[in-house]
Amino acid sequence: MCGIIGYSGKREAAEVLLEGLRNLEYRGYDSAGIALFTQTGLKTYKAQGRLSQLEALLGDRLPDGQCGIGHTRWATHGAPSDVNAHPHASGKVTLVHNGILENYMDLKEILLNKGRIFTSQTDTEVIAQWLDEEYGKTPDPMAAICRTLKVLRGSYALGILFADHPGALYAVRKDSPLIVGLGQGENFIASDVTAILPYTRDYLLMEENEIAVVTPERAGLFTQDGQPFTREASHADWDISAAQKGGYAHFMRKEIDEQPHALEATLSPRLTGESIDFSADGVEDAFLSDFRSIQIVACGTAMHAGLIGKHLIESLARIPVSVNIASEYRYSNPIVGRDDLVIIVSQSGETADTLAALRLAKACGARTLAIVNVVGSSIAREAERVLYTYAGPEIAVASTKAFSVQMAMFYLLALRIASLSGTLSAKAAAVYVEKLKKLPRMVEDTLKAAGSCKEAVSDLVNASDLFYIGRGLDNCLCMEGSLKLKEISYLHSESYAAGELKHGAISLITEKVPVIAVATQPELLEKMVSNMREVKARGGFVLALCRAGSVIPEDAADRVIYLPDSVEEDLFAPLAAIVPLQLIAYEIAVLRGCDVDKPRNLAKSVTVE
Ligand code: M6R
Repeated sequence: MCGIIGYSGKREAAEVLLEGLRNLEYRGYDSAGIALFTQTGLKTYKAQGRLSQLEALLGDRLPDGQCGIGHTRWATHGAPSDVNAHPHASGKVTLVHNGILENYMDLKEILLNKGRIFTSQTDTEVIAQWLDEEYGKTPDPMAAICRTLKVLRGSYALGILFADHPGALYAVRKDSPLIVGLGQGENFIASDVTAILPYTRDYLLMEENEIAVVTPERAGLFTQDGQPFTREASHADWDISAAQKGGYAHFMRKEIDEQPHALEATLSPRLTGESIDFSADGVEDAFLSDFRSIQIVACGTAMHAGLIGKHLIESLARIPVSVNIASEYRYSNPIVGRDDLVIIVSQSGETADTLAALRLAKACGARTLAIVNVVGSSIAREAERVLYTYAGPEIAVASTKAFSVQMAMFYLLALRIASLSGTLSAKAAAVYVEKLKKLPRMVEDTLKAAGSCKEAVSDLVNASDLFYIGRGLDNCLCMEGSLKLKEISYLHSESYAAGELKHGAISLITEKVPVIAVATQPELLEKMVSNMREVKARGGFVLALCRAGSVIPEDAADRVIYLPDSVEEDLFAPLAAIVPLQLIAYEIAVLRGCDVDKPRNLAKSVTVE
């Protein structure tokens, strides 16, 4: 969603801000803007559309100045437009905002009664005007910010400039991430670390209700009452190349290829000898034992990884698991308490619905365990225990490598929980551990066969509807394959449990409607073949995805993609099978001329409910 970058130092701020915004583009946005202190005062430039629109507005000669703020906006209040784009200014105050001000109507009413005039439809302008009102009473930035924070309700990360304090950046964080980047003679603020990676990997994490004051020489933290305090700096392990395309046409394609490496990085630290060990993560065996049920809560792709997790835990450990869509969790009056383990899954660790579900589970007394990719993110910090996936930065909006490592974490968890609950012997666990070690290689082999996916898409690209069918683990994968296709290619698709198709949706299968049938589980193959034949009998086009050596009769499928021989174990087949599904979605999106990495209307991290 929205992105924030701020700079104070000796470089040309406009260049730093534009580069920071480019690095934040992946979050999704519809307009962009910057404000900076120039020789002739504080100037704001903003434009609806892609960054190129803002660059065109700025022209060849960028405005001079060494301190400023920048923003990419994803519209919530007020349509995408030049006027609604950030920064917003009022009197001496100019600011950018991520999040949603919930009581903006009430505050706006008060300001309107004072005779203030609004130029935009945003909630953000209300903050700018309120802060300016306070600043008018006492021209002390910190005092004005502290007083303003007392009335704001909602989520906000703010980057603020005061026209009469050139060179100083002010920042505030509540329920929306913000960090302070630490350089030599220069400092930054940013909504995520990728924006500042070209300059520094050292940063201060801002916690809830904290204020930062940033100048070239100092980056100070303050409580919401303006009291200074210090915090140890964090260091990002991600380097800039991880956040660059490195010769690939799209981040998504690069991230698909990075899956073997991400799996290795996630699996190997937890595989010790013949068993699985989370003690280095601070997740002790007692934490993974003795509960009534497990509830997995997540959104989108992370929720699909949770569906795989349910299947694994239930079949290996025989403990009941429910998978919950985070946005529904709070409103479903969940039966959750101290006897339950709630597993929260999130790549970004900032998804608002998932974070809210975590807070509810904690409030109900449940044990909470987060599976998160972004170190230090809100979910990682608030959950009782955290297991980090080590996928590195995922830039493309469509999640690929994060999904694979989330699945990998569920393999580890399911096997460990099964060992602890006594449903898996030490000997059987040791056999699985050996197989886990081979998974990165298995995915690498699958990637080598990428060419077959490219060929297969010629049969699918012109469709207007497409179906995915599968059973068991394959059904979960189908949901993910379908989501991937929809979000990046805008081709309508649906995922159906293969046996459920004939209970309604089969009426949509007519001449040449493509159906991708995922059939990687030998004991379900026969049933899947019957379902494929049902489709073929209605004139549909079947593309089957199955294991090497599977026999698919000619009358059941028009084309077959085979996984490599190294996919030996039924349980681990999803890690390989997801690759062709990701590639098919990618290739179709490319052929349809879509903006693969930044699909319309979507944001990488959904930080509003
Ligand atoms: O950062 P999170 O894992 O919490 O994000 C959850 C979903 O928003 C995310 O997986 C979304 O569905 C992706 N765009 C799917 O590719």
